[in-house]
Amino acid sequence: MVLILIYLLILFIFLSVVYFFLQGPIFAPSSETAISTMLKLAKIKPGVRIADLGSGDGRVVRAFAKKGVEIHGYEINPLLVLISKHKIKEEGLGNNAFVHWRSFWKIDLSQFNIIIVFGIDYIMNRLKRKLLKELKPGSTVIANIFPFPDWKYINKKDGIYLYQIDENK
Ligand SMILES: C[S@@+](CC[C@H](N)C(=O)[O-])C[C@H]1O[C@@H](n2cnc3c(N)ncnc32)[C@H](O)[C@@H]1O
Repeated sequence: MVLILIYLLILFIFLSVVYFFLQGPIFAPSSETAISTMLKLAKIKPGVRIADLGSGDGRVVRAFAKKGVEIHGYEINPLLVLISKHKIKEEGLGNNAFVHWRSFWKIDLSQFNIIIVFGIDYIMNRLKRKLLKELKPGSTVIANIFPFPDWKYINKKDGIYLYQIDENK
């Protein structure tokens, strides 16, 4: 009986780990250079709404919020959400920066004009399909390190890829 319980526990842990990995990348922070290049390439205008998919410790969210724009981070790791919220409060960015404990796969992205993602190669195709389906023409997508397969970027610098949703998508 005890052996069966141990076996089920191991199976549960194994399946949880597999599920977690299938959701997206593990935490690796964007470098300062990458963030400053994202800020330059994004060419943010007042009133724009931005989302960071997998916002980690919130460093990208906070950097954009400091420019006075509204940005929402979506993060599945609750500890990273707590750290982000703490830093947002500490830096007085609560009017512009919002971090949500949610999987970005469950978010309707049509409310955003700029999407930022530091993903991993095996999610990029699925994510491309979601972005092309939900984003409005003229929206911008910024990918750090991992580009989208079969999608022509309009600019690239320091490992940051910039994409635009076609007017006649
Ligand atoms: C490579 S890190 C990037 C963190 C941050 N955006 C940055 O550039 O510093 C990717 C983050 O995505 C989170 N993540 C992975 N899959 C996710 C999902 N489905 N929904 C929300 N967050 C996810 C991970 O927990 C991790 O913190």
